[in-house]
Amino acid sequence: MISRKLIKVALLGVWAVFMAGWLVYGIQSRTVATSAAEPSAPKGTEVAYNQDDYVGSDTCATCHEDQFKAFSKTKHSKLTQVKDWKDKAKGCESCHGPGRAHVEEADPTKIISFKDKTAKQVSESCLTCHAGKEDHNNFRRSEHLRNNVGCTDCHSPHGSPNHPTKVGSITYPAIDSEDNPGPATVKMLKVSEPQLCMSCHQQTKAQFSQPFHHKVLEGQMKCSDCHNAHGGFELKNARLSVGADAVCVKCHTDKQGPFVYEHLPITTEGCATCHNTHGSTNPKMLKRNQVRQLCLECHTAIFDSPAPGVPSFHRQDNASYQNCTNCHVRIHGSNTHPAFFR
Ligand code: HEC
Ligand code: HEC
Ligand code: HEC
Ligand code: HEC
Ligand code: HEC
Ligand code: HEC
Ligand code: HEC
Ligand code: HEC
Ligand code: HEC
Ligand code: HEC
Repeated sequence: MISRKLIKVALLGVWAVFMAGWLVYGIQSRTVATSAAEPSAPKGTEVAYNQDDYVGSDTCATCHEDQFKAFSKTKHSKLTQVKDWKDKAKGCESCHGPGRAHVEEADPTKIISFKDKTAKQVSESCLTCHAGKEDHNNFRRSEHLRNNVGCTDCHSPHGSPNHPTKVGSITYPAIDSEDNPGPATVKMLKVSEPQLCMSCHQQTKAQFSQPFHHKVLEGQMKCSDCHNAHGGFELKNARLSVGADAVCVKCHTDKQGPFVYEHLPITTEGCATCHNTHGSTNPKMLKRNQVRQLCLECHTAIFDSPAPGVPSFHRQDNASYQNCTNCHVRIHGSNTHPAFFR
């Protein structure tokens, strides 16, 4: 019990430090973003722009109709009506920089282009505004950005030209048609989940096709229910807060505890110690074919493990002792029995 409390206290401490860091960081980046008289240009191209250098999105529209049409349905296009952003967001020119020279001289080199920019550079231009947001603070050190997957690998910078009013389809498989939209229409995603994620993480499709699985392919859950694509403090970009299991107990609330009698690995190692959370060939998405195998991996006297070996009366040649959870029913923790009988 004591060690568990200690762990909790330690976790809480770590969390508190992170939150403090977050706050400070958020406030700092927000101050930077909002105190600037001009919208920041992408990093490396910072120059003082003159207000007169901006021509406005309507001017761009005269030559770039497609981009304008898609853009005008996004939140970005409406920022000029939002109090906090009125003077800072400049429509197309928020990202592309002031366009007067480009327009007047009809010179494609006189506008910020992202053609030759890396995923990191493009992302930095988005982060000039988005870094202050809680969700994106961690993007710079996320598995994604570190592997050159930037904002525009998942988001379409101008928004989707299709179905702006329909909710995104998360039904697999995607067939790109008018009736069954593949391209996402929410959050400016290029493609809906899970297709978006599976286009790169192909192995997950096989995992979610296993006999026992979370219903992601069926469209009842999304990858982002469990993962934060923008990165976070946890391994595997999981969406967790305090402790390793928060993402799971958000839905499986009965497993949350705290229990009077905790089963230690659940609080220390997390749900994925025993479950393959994408999918498994074993019932209950267990990692092992037989429950017994799973238990005996830890509950064996041979190993130097905090788990006690099974009592000697558990004769393993006796079939009635093989199905451990027949008796140890409350395997995730119990409030009434130290050996999880009820
Ligand atoms: C008078 C017509 C005209 C107007 C107005 C105009 N552009 Fe262009 N723009 C062009 C032409 C022509 C090109 C080069 C051909 C192409 O890429 O379509 C171009 C290219 C671009 C490119 C691609 C540059 C590259 O090489 O990657 C961007 C980005 C761009 N324009 C943004 C804008 C923005 C933002 C505005 C409004 C501030 C704007 N344009 C207004 C004509 C125009
Ligand atoms: C949120 C930032 C952002 C805004 C706002 C934005 N763009 Fe872009 N634009 C980009 C990025 C990033 C690219 C690079 C293409 C890509 O990654 O798909 C791009 C590419 C372009 C191109 C090159 C051709 C193409 O589509 O790849 C043109 C032309 C263009 N934008 C015009 C515009 C116009 C016109 C507007 C306003 C109606 C606008 N953009 C608003 C970020 C933005
Ligand atoms: C001028 C500042 C600014 C820049 C630059 C900017 N954004 Fe945004 N963006 C915003 C604001 C403000 C919102 C609205 C936030 C809200 O409503 O919570 C927003 C909203 C969004 C949304 C949510 C759209 C929705 O429908 O909910 C996405 C996705 C997004 N931005 C992606 C990007 C990407 C990708 C880039 C870079 C290519 C970018 N942004 C560049 C300010 C900016
Ligand atoms: C690996 C794919 C991926 C990358 C890379 C990515 N996003 Fe997202 N983003 C998503 C998904 C998926 C959602 C929708 C999550 C949901 O439905 O709750 C989202 C949501 C958003 C939202 C809306 C958040 C909200 O709560 O409404 C914004 C804003 C946003 N992203 C901006 C960005 C910016 C800026 C970057 C780069 C710094 C970026 N994203 C990089 C996948 C990605
Ligand atoms: C453009 C390709 C691409 C897209 C789209 C993409 N990812 Fe990734 N993702 C990667 C790469 C590359 C890595 C880092 C290398 C790796 O672990 O595979 C990564 C890493 C991850 C990781 C961490 C893996 C680890 O071992 O720590 C998770 C979780 C993840 N992605 C989930 C998602 C989710 C959820 C989506 C959809 C919202 C998504 N990805 C969309 C390419 C992509
Ligand atoms: C029910 C929650 C849940 C859902 C839904 C989910 N994941 Fe995961 N995913 C996890 C957990 C938990 C881990 C960490 C597993 C571990 O540590 O053994 C993980 C690990 C990963 C990894 C790292 C792979 C590895 O072998 O280490 C990737 C990549 C990933 N998920 C992508 C996805 C994609 C793509 C989707 C949607 C198609 C998705 N996940 C949906 C919970 C989920
Ligand atoms: C968004 C809600 C949600 C989240 C988050 C979630 N689950 Fe589930 N989980 C479900 C639903 C709904 C079912 C049962 C229906 C089904 O078959 O999809 C389920 C089924 C399961 C089952 C199988 C139950 C059975 O009787 O066969 C296990 C085990 C499981 N989840 C573990 C986890 C773990 C571990 C995590 C965290 C990595 C997690 N879940 C995250 C919603 C969720
Ligand atoms: C020590 C191994 C172990 C860990 C860790 C573990 N589970 Fe389980 N879980 C099991 C076993 C064994 C079963 C099957 C019980 C049975 O056969 O009746 C199971 C069954 C389940 C079920 C389906 C049956 C039910 O009771 O609803 C869900 C849902 C579930 N676990 C969720 C979770 C979640 C969420 C976590 C993390 C908080 C977790 N598990 C951690 C071993 C574990
Ligand atoms: C990842 C390792 C691990 C797995 C797998 C595991 N356990 Fe445990 N188990 C432990 C540890 C560690 C303890 C805590 C011992 C303590 O509190 O001193 C424990 C405690 C117990 C206890 C209570 C012992 C007591 O009286 O204090 C029982 C009963 C138990 N486990 C049964 C099972 C069963 C049945 C399974 C299979 C469904 C299982 N365990 C799977 C590690 C594990
Ligand atoms: C027929 C019912 C039954 C089955 C099946 C069963 N157990 Fe037990 N188990 C018990 C009883 C009774 C105790 C003693 C409880 C007590 O001391 O209060 C016990 C105690 C334990 C303990 C605690 C040992 C300690 O020193 O504190 C562990 C660990 C354990 N069992 C693991 C298992 C494992 C692993 C399996 C499956 C291979 C299993 N049990 C199957 C009835 C069962």
